[in-house]
Amino acid sequence: MIRMVDVYKRYQKDYSALKGISLHVAKGEFVFITGPSGAGKTTLLKLIYCEEQADRGEIRVNGLNLARLRRGSIPYLRRNIGVVFQDFKLIRSKSVFDNIAFALRVIGASKKEMKRRAWDVLRRVGLQHKINGYPLRLSGGEQQRVAIARALVNDPVILIADEPTGNLDAVVAEEIMEILNEIHMRGTTVLVATHDMNIVERMNKRVIRLENGRCVSDSALSDVPASGSEVVGRV
Ligand SMILES: Nc1ncnc2c1ncn2[C@@H]1O[C@H](COP(=O)(O)OP(=O)(O)OP(=O)(O)O)[C@@H](O)[C@H]1O
Ligand SMILES: [Mg+2]
Repeated sequence: MIRMVDVYKRYQKDYSALKGISLHVAKGEFVFITGPSGAGKTTLLKLIYCEEQADRGEIRVNGLNLARLRRGSIPYLRRNIGVVFQDFKLIRSKSVFDNIAFALRVIGASKKEMKRRAWDVLRRVGLQHKINGYPLRLSGGEQQRVAIARALVNDPVILIADEPTGNLDAVVAEEIMEILNEIHMRGTTVLVATHDMNIVERMNKRVIRLENGRCVSDSALSDVPASGSEVVGRV
């Protein structure tokens, strides 16, 4: 589903945010990306949903070679990837329904279809009763659930979450992780960047650890230390 081979990314001339990342995430896997602040977690995720481009190396996502992807194909790729952020990124002036429907408008869905799909994804996160609410009247956990619903509405094959519980207390964080786990159980490939090791330990999933732009361990390869340009991942 996602394959990286020897990927490098630098934002500034003399500093690389990612240095030779190689990994493979199979369809339907749930993977945590961990590591200290500045390790490159967000950068790695941005490369996958084409928010940034790699300087070197190969990235394949859902069968597409991102280096060869034409600009016009990026929206197509993004429709297959749902993204959730630490700060929710909901539009405050729009209702819950409109926040979700916004993602559907671009594909030209009818009003009836939008209602049906918004209702369906809100049900999955347990918030159908808030369909006419506004983000600022929701708790942080509820806002993140709306953001997850929005990410799901185009039925993505990959869900990416960058520190999805960073602004939430421990109990609510656990609820959000449970929702992400349910999404995974239904077959979606899920990638979660977090430095909350309590959550990571409790969930018992594959963990890829980054440090200083390199992949320093991958629990899917417990016996083999991840290094340099080797392809790491499940066979
Ligand atoms: N747009 C940018 N311009 C310049 N440097 C950047 C940019 N984005 C990230 N960086 C640098 O790249 C490195 C990796 O950043 P990244 O955001 O990927 O780390 P992270 O692991 O997500 O950290 P955090 O846990 O704090 O979110 C950092 O040194 C950061 O300062
Ligand atoms: Mg980050």
